[in-house]
Amino acid sequence: MSPTIAVIGATGVQGAAQVRELVLAGFDPVAFSRSGGAVATSAGPVRGIACDLGDVASLKTAFARTDGVFVNLPSTSFQQAEPLIAAAGTIGKAAKAAGVRRIVFNTSMPVPTDKRGFAAQDARHEMRARLWDSDVDTTSIEPVVYLDNLHQRWAWPSIVERGVVCYPHAPELEVSWICHEDLARLMIEALRRDDLHGHRIPVGGPQTVRLPELTAELSAAWGRKLAWESQPIDEFCDRMKRAFDGIATLEAERLIDELRRIYEWYNTSPEKPFKVDMTPVLEILPARMTPIGDWARANPLPA
Ligand SMILES: NC(=O)c1ccc[n+]([C@@H]2O[C@H](COP(=O)([O-])OP(=O)(O)OC[C@H]3O[C@@H](n4cnc5c(N)ncnc54)[C@H](OP(=O)(O)O)[C@@H]3O)[C@@H](O)[C@H]2O)c1
Repeated sequence: MSPTIAVIGATGVQGAAQVRELVLAGFDPVAFSRSGGAVATSAGPVRGIACDLGDVASLKTAFARTDGVFVNLPSTSFQQAEPLIAAAGTIGKAAKAAGVRRIVFNTSMPVPTDKRGFAAQDARHEMRARLWDSDVDTTSIEPVVYLDNLHQRWAWPSIVERGVVCYPHAPELEVSWICHEDLARLMIEALRRDDLHGHRIPVGGPQTVRLPELTAELSAAWGRKLAWESQPIDEFCDRMKRAFDGIATLEAERLIDELRRIYEWYNTSPEKPFKVDMTPVLEILPARMTPIGDWARANPLPA
């Protein structure tokens, strides 16, 4: 029988890609979310389970005969962080009680070893600590920027309507863009290992590029000459505020201030938080990686 893997947050775009890749890799994923919606895959819909991330007992029951858990947690920028940090603890306790063998945590963003005073990142730091404390073998996989963001409403209209890749990255910022599928395959490789408990592994895609180079790759793949624009962070924050209007439960000013501060750090930190050398990572997690051009050809511009 194929090992059963619970994917928490499976109805989100990151979790859904993990469900699809788990199916392709021969696992038996189960899609966990609040709604319990199924997830479409190449092998048909994967069954969904409605879960309450505040309830250890019901999660323990839902994890019965589960071999591994992939953890994806939603944004703490747009809703209170504390219940979601507590949810990481609940998942860990329930997994331990149910005899789950491994947890793989997708931090969804770079999370340095120490806290830096950025609320979203610090919340992920806490979630990671709760999962590590659970006493279930847990690996933290920490992606940089998703290529899939280019299809989101804050980036896509400018590409389609103006032919401009407009992103809040400085022209010289080096970014190892990664797609959701590559992240999922790296998580699957982590699931297969028994010696990565307590490890945090920053991951990116197979290429590290600056905005002009990214644009050249996309232009070639999409057969359309695109320009690039390093979007001022203030303008980006305003656009994000409009895009998420109605979703945020936190006050807008604090939210935007947090976004501004973290994007300034991403752009200027000497640590280069968006740059990852994947050579040593792929020795540990030998996943197939997708070049930017291949990703773009698989995700075309509308005709
Ligand atoms: N690195 C990057 O380039 C990048 C890009 C985009 C996002 N992110 C980060 O990725 C994280 C997730 O992003 P997102 O929220 O936009 O993902 P998403 O695709 O909206 O998925 C969120 C998932 O969490 C579930 N969910 C939502 N609210 C919940 C709650 N209160 N309790 C339990 N489950 C809940 C949703 O399902 P149900 O509603 O059905 O429960 C869904 O499955 C965020 O931290 C975000 O900053 C990073």
